[in-house]
Amino acid sequence: MLQVPSLETHDRLGTGVAELSAFNDGDRPGWTREVFSEPYRASRAWTAARMREAGLEVHVDAAGNIVGRLAGSEASLPALVTGSHTDTVDGGGRFDGIVGVLGSIEAARLLQESGIRLRRDLLVVDFLGEESNVFGLSCLGSRSAAQELTPEDLDRRDYRGVTLGQAYADYGLDPSRLLDVPWAKEPLHAFVELHIEQGPTLEKRGLPLGIVTAITGIERFIATFAGAADHAGTTSMEDRRDAMAAAAEAVLAVRAEGCGAPTHGVATSTRVESESRSPNVVPSLVRMYSEVRSVDPTWLSGVKGRLTGEIAAKAADLGVDVGFEWSTDNTVVHAASSVQDVAGAAVDALGLPWMPIPSGATHDAVHMATLAPMGMIFIPSKGGKSHCPEEWSSTENIATGVEALVGTLRRLDTTDSRPTS
Ligand code: GLV
Ligand code: MN
Ligand code: MN
Repeated sequence: MLQVPSLETHDRLGTGVAELSAFNDGDRPGWTREVFSEPYRASRAWTAARMREAGLEVHVDAAGNIVGRLAGSEASLPALVTGSHTDTVDGGGRFDGIVGVLGSIEAARLLQESGIRLRRDLLVVDFLGEESNVFGLSCLGSRSAAQELTPEDLDRRDYRGVTLGQAYADYGLDPSRLLDVPWAKEPLHAFVELHIEQGPTLEKRGLPLGIVTAITGIERFIATFAGAADHAGTTSMEDRRDAMAAAAEAVLAVRAEGCGAPTHGVATSTRVESESRSPNVVPSLVRMYSEVRSVDPTWLSGVKGRLTGEIAAKAADLGVDVGFEWSTDNTVVHAASSVQDVAGAAVDALGLPWMPIPSGATHDAVHMATLAPMGMIFIPSKGGKSHCPEEWSSTENIATGVEALVGTLRRLDTTDSRPTS
């Protein structure tokens, strides 16, 4: 008989969130534990210790993912995988990612405490660096596991000129081993990720659980506007070539693109940097960072052409040249319908209401979907807040998510054929 989440489970989850979030960069706002940082490095020793305490056999793979294995009774069967991430954005919260790692560790513990031995090995993973970072790349660990990390990715540079490959090396990971991590050689049965919703829908509808249908695609670009430096007091408005004005037009064009999406679309400009420091010089070189997301692949595929054309035309009107560096962080990925069905049946069996829900955030599940049929379970986020210090999900909500995860894993364990996509 499965132990339903007990007071001990609530305690462990609550204490886990508090202890893990104490690994924090105190110089930054909110909760900040960015990939490759010292607080992150220290926190991962804590996470590995929690896995061992929960009876998992732990190793760190060549990509820096912490993998805890709970051995099943039939070693030859493809493994089940669950997990998430423990890094945060700059100035983030305490629940994004953590819930899926602590929840998976708790699920493994509950199975053992209940005397339930799965047939399949269960791999509990803390993926390295899921959040998009100073190199503009998300999901480093799961990307490596899926063999989607490229040599070009390792050459990306941050604002100081340091390459991603160097950042890995400084962290103690050998960049030459990142492109051939053994995961793909191991057949996997299914991947399930527990996560906070990071939006308001479940809370608004009073539902404890959501089962993810699809994960948003993300297109990013850096636009560089080149105008001309001139005296800000003596150059007439017609004669100047103001790179900042062109960037400002571009920020509004990005916003309008998101507002114009027919089904789902969001568009955000996060940074505008000017080379001009003096208040009395017309800005000549401005760099702008933006991203556009949608679960509608048709609309998203047209974004690059539309925005490039519109921004370039507006810049030309101002006498400003513009160059673009576009990158696809990930394409739209659908959860396997079979895993959605299994998760739905598991939640129904618990007598809990749920809804199918798309994800506007990206996740390690995007990349794990290339290795195994993938599904995700969402729990509510208070006020829909995420990627900010106000991010909050109750321990009760997390415990319910763990119950749903355990039920889903148990059902997947008994399906003989690999779930279909
Ligand atoms: C990760 O949380 C993302 O959606 O960028
Ligand atoms: Mn996350
Ligand atoms: Mn996040």
